[in-house]
Parts: sequence; structure tokens; C-alpha cells
Amino acid sequence: MNRLLPIFVKLENQPCLVVGGGKIAGQKIKQLLESKADVTVKALEISDDLKSLPITIEKAVYRENDVKGYKLIIAATDDDNVNRQIYEDSQKDGIPVNVVDQPSLCTFYMGSVFQDGDVKVAISTNGKCPSFGKYIRDHISNTSKGMWGKALGKLALQREKIINSILSYSEKQLVMEELVKDSQNKFIQKQVQRGKVFIVGAGPGDPELITVKGLHAIQCADVILHDALVHPHLVFEINTNAEKIFVGKREGKHSVSQDTIQSLLTEEANKGKIVVRLKGGDPFIFGRGAEEVEALKKAGITFEVIAGITAGLGAAAGFGIPLTSRNEAQSTTLITGHQCEKNGRHNWKALADLDSTLVFYMGVKNISKIAATLIKNGKLGSTPLAIVQNGTMVSQAIFVSTLEKVEKALKGESIKTPAVIIIGEVVRHHKRLQKFVESIPSEQVDPVGDFGFDIWKTDVFEA
Ligand SMILES: C[S@@+](CC[C@H](N)C(=O)[O-])C[C@H]1O[C@@H](n2cnc3c(N)ncnc32)[C@H](O)[C@@H]1O
Repeated sequence: MNRLLPIFVKLENQPCLVVGGGKIAGQKIKQLLESKADVTVKALEISDDLKSLPITIEKAVYRENDVKGYKLIIAATDDDNVNRQIYEDSQKDGIPVNVVDQPSLCTFYMGSVFQDGDVKVAISTNGKCPSFGKYIRDHISNTSKGMWGKALGKLALQREKIINSILSYSEKQLVMEELVKDSQNKFIQKQVQRGKVFIVGAGPGDPELITVKGLHAIQCADVILHDALVHPHLVFEINTNAEKIFVGKREGKHSVSQDTIQSLLTEEANKGKIVVRLKGGDPFIFGRGAEEVEALKKAGITFEVIAGITAGLGAAAGFGIPLTSRNEAQSTTLITGHQCEKNGRHNWKALADLDSTLVFYMGVKNISKIAATLIKNGKLGSTPLAIVQNGTMVSQAIFVSTLEKVEKALKGESIKTPAVIIIGEVVRHHKRLQKFVESIPSEQVDPVGDFGFDIWKTDVFEA
């Protein structure tokens, strides 16, 4: 447990002493100078890069009670006795002291610091592992992308006006909280009195496969309408305040019709809300995203579609299968496996002739028919085939066979869903590469499961 009190100290023009003139001392001196402290460095040897800094240099050894008159002390010498003496002298005079890398001789620590304009974040690891503090600082820096400083600058101006115009503290706080939220929603330009719908692809399973933009939209959402195939981490943990509406389709269980989903999107946006429609994979690949955007257009609601990694791409990548390859596949075709020869509109002859990798979605139930139809239309029976189940999830698995053998090979096997079927010469890469491909899904989570429902059917099941 970290029991340190984080405080930000005003050191402008305050005398501070650094004992030691090496590299480590240099790092601390620079941090003090950023706070505009009046820094004196005491050491017999001073490294060259410190000489050009706006500091006072005293080429001397430390003597007892040299700390007197200073507001803050840093000891960065390699002499344990000197360091201890500095600590004891500082303690005697009640001056905060930090002996570098000796937590027991510190009354304060200097954390890893992230700074962007007036935003300053200091990270403490309780002296346990400063390198981890730096790692967290870099993470913050990647997240802020240089936008927080600017956002704070604008908020500060607005705050000044609000402070002058609103009297009650609680009202000021409420208004400011709203403004802060809006400032972070800047990439989500709110329409006049109306909200906006983000149709976001959540990726195939692994929650880390969402795009940064998709994640940002979730963070800004007031309402999230989510499918069954979306990872719970993305739905429930990124933005705990947003209202969650489950609109997944489950066979034989409670389910929401496509019309209802579209009405919900419109209604929520009309209330001025930021609505995220979170869909598995990519919203425009077998996701009925097209219907949703049509409905939004009809209702006059602004929307943005944020692409996601579709299941076929995620599944293939995870098992080292290149969907196109210079010599084996000039293209990739994504196909619904729900339609078969009798009821579908696929041009099976063209599919069989194409020098293309075929990726079937929602096709596991029809796999024998798919294989037989392709062979009947001229595809070689020896063409390799892979069924990738729970792709990009911890339980991901691959089953490899060929068009002519798959029906027999599957006898007694249980194939988990969701799954895609990849057909083409490129599947052979998996065998060659499998010892070297190491795909690590981000978390130990149970597979989400697609309940065997085919969203291309129009059936609606009510609870
Ligand atoms: C209704 S489609 C939705 C596809 C989604 N929009 C996409 O771009 O991936 C559902 C089908 O996607 C495939 N699928 C979804 N997630 C999968 C996963 N993690 N691994 C393998 N196949 C998956 C399965 O074929 C499943 O039946």
C-alpha cells in the first residue's frame, strides 16, 4: 500500500541544494529547474552538460550543516557517509531530503513526471520500482497524444467566465464537469441539440484488437448498445458510467429485432446523447451496419462508422495464414456460409474458379455442403481448409483438413463457434509456421459464443 501523500510543491525562486555533479544529479537538477527553483550544486567534479545550466556551482565537498538555508535537498553522491550526513542534517533542520536510490534516507520521492502544458502527472511507485513509473508515464503520454495541455488551456478560459457568472459551488462544479466531458468529446462534434451515433467495430474477440478511435468513442459514450459477440471488457469496463443496452441476438432467448435496434439508436441520439453501437468484428462485414446507417440517415442523425478487425482477418492472422499470397492467392473473398447451392445467390462456379482465398462466415453448419458444392463446381478436392474457432480468444483453435476429406474428418469432432472457414492453398502456411506463431490473446476470458444464430436470417425471437 502506498501511503505517500502526493503534493505539488511551489519551488519558484526557492533555494534548493543538489549535492553531487554526475548524471543522476543532472536528472534531478533538470526537474528542479522545470519548477524554476534556484538550484545550487555542490560537488568537486561537475559533468560538462551541467555547466551550461542556470545553476550556481560550488566546487567543494559537503560539510556538516551545509543544508542550512535551503528549502529542499537532493543528495546524489556515491559516498554513503556523505549521503547519511546530508540526510541527518536535513532531518535536524526539518528540510525535505531525497538521497537518490536510498528510500530509507528520503523524506520525499520525485516521481516519473508526465507534462503537457499545465497538465502535470507524477507517478509514485512508493520507491519500489521507478522504471515501472516511467513505463506508466509513457503509457499516459501515448494516451494523451499531446491533446490534454490544449484542452486544459481552453477549459481554464471557460472556467474563469463560469466562476464569475455562477454563484453556487455545486452548480459551478456541475457545469465544469459537463464542460470537461464535452472537451474530451471534441472529436465527437455534438450536433445542435442532437447526439451522434458511432457504429464501432469491436474486433473479433480479443479486446485489445479494437482501434484506438473505437476505444475513444466508447470512453465518450453516454449509451452503449452491444452485441453478444463483443468482449465484456469493452462493454463494461472502459466506460462504467455509460448506460448499457444489450441488443444481441440469441436463438430461442430474448432477442431484439433489427427494427428495435434502429429505433433505439435514433431515440437515444435524439435525446442529444453520444451513442455507441458496438458490434463484433467490423460493422460493415456481415454486421447489418448498412441497415443501421440507412435508418440513421432517414432519421437525420449524424453517424460515424469506426472500422474493426473482421473475424476472418483476426482468425487468419492468429494462426499465421496469409489471406493473400503472391503465388497462391491473388485475392480474398469473404462469404456468408449461410447460403448454400439451393437457397443462395452465390455464384459457386465463379467461387470455385477464382484464384482467391475463400473465407466463410456463419458456415460451420453447412460445411459439408460448402465443400461438396465447391468440388462439384471445379475446385480441387485436395484444396486445404481450416476452421478457426473462437479466433483471437484464449480458447482459439484450428482444425485443418481438405475439401474432400473434411466431412469424414469432422465425424466425432466438436467444432466450437464462432468459427470461420478458410479455404485455399494459403492454409498450408499454417503447418509450416505453426511452431513459430505465438498469438497471445490479451486476457484469460471465456469464449463469448455466438449461440448459433445467423443474423442474416430475419427471424426474431422474443423472450
Ligand atoms: C454475424 S457474423 C458477424 C461478423 C462480424 N461483423 C465480423 O466482421 O467479424 C458472425 C460470424 O462471424 C464469425 N466470427 C465472429 N467472431 C469470430 C471469432 N472470434 N472467431 C471465428 N469466427 C468468428 C463467425 O463465422 C460468426 O458466425
